Amino acid sequence: MIDLSQVEEELERELKRVRSLQELQQLKAKYLGKSGLITQAISNIRDLPPEERKSYGQKVNQIKNRAEELLKGKEEEIKRAELQRRLSEEWLDLSVPLQRAVGSLHPITQTLRRVKSIFLSMGFRVMEGPEVEREDYNFDLLNIPKEHPARDMQDTFYVNREGYLLRTHTSPVQIRTMLAHRPPIYMVAPGRVYRRDDDPTHSPMFHQVEGLVVDQELSFGHMKYTIEVFLREFFEADVPVRFRASYFPFTEPSAEVDIGCVICGGVGCKVCKQSGWLEVMGCGMVHPKVLENCGLDPESYQGFAFGMGVERLAMLYFRIDNIKLFFENDLRFLRQFL
Ligand code: DAH
Repeated sequence: MIDLSQVEEELERELKRVRSLQELQQLKAKYLGKSGLITQAISNIRDLPPEERKSYGQKVNQIKNRAEELLKGKEEEIKRAELQRRLSEEWLDLSVPLQRAVGSLHPITQTLRRVKSIFLSMGFRVMEGPEVEREDYNFDLLNIPKEHPARDMQDTFYVNREGYLLRTHTSPVQIRTMLAHRPPIYMVAPGRVYRRDDDPTHSPMFHQVEGLVVDQELSFGHMKYTIEVFLREFFEADVPVRFRASYFPFTEPSAEVDIGCVICGGVGCKVCKQSGWLEVMGCGMVHPKVLENCGLDPESYQGFAFGMGVERLAMLYFRIDNIKLFFENDLRFLRQFL
């Protein structure tokens, strides 16, 4: 028979030494677990003579309730102490200034997004083509003949596969679009292009945005208006725009587009080489041969096209004087474009 009078005292004594919830758990098992002292006492009841069962049973029950109460009290005490400890050790200084270590979009990405969004607002679609391009899409179908200097190994990166190269401009996306879609076509094609060129204003990899519109009854005037609206939106100013006659094999007539220098306002500076004008893109009416190469009848359809360098636009917009800065990933540079 378990001596009940000892049980309560012993529990109280042992509880005083308990420091953790784990120790408390062990103590609980010792008294109230499956083979705990109190549990045993309860199962002893049925071995007693009937006349003793009642008073013994009452006593056991009393002790069991008391034990539960003591254990519960101790558990709360330990938890309270733990909370106090954490509150005093773990704290946050809300007066420390905010550390801004978030990333940001590269200035070229920002520029590409702005260009796309202006054309999207005018109803154009965005198209894409591969950077490893077919030589005939990059040159032949654009009416660039075999002996053209651009095809020289000096200017173009060829790849180890006959008939393929790293595209030298985004114009092959014009061909891909006309071969795959019927007019009306209103599209811009942003992307990377590659040329053997390397100096403060040229990089062997850079970005262009190509534009192509093919529809019925299109004139040079539609092109001029589209480009003017774009440039004024892009530079967020009513910049003067002029079209200078030029030559591209895939357009006829062709023009180069200048804007009044955004750096000096047209009076002449280093950036515009004292001319007051900055060249920002090439354009023209799609050459009838190019339309024919893509299965379109030049008697029923006209097109206009344009192409611009994204780094050039970004350099003028953000006033950056060396194209290499875009590709060095110097955080002191990039952090200026949050
Ligand atoms: N593809 C030309 C280049 O890389 C740019 C260009 C000029 C594109 C006139 C055009 C265009 O679509 O009509 O220099």
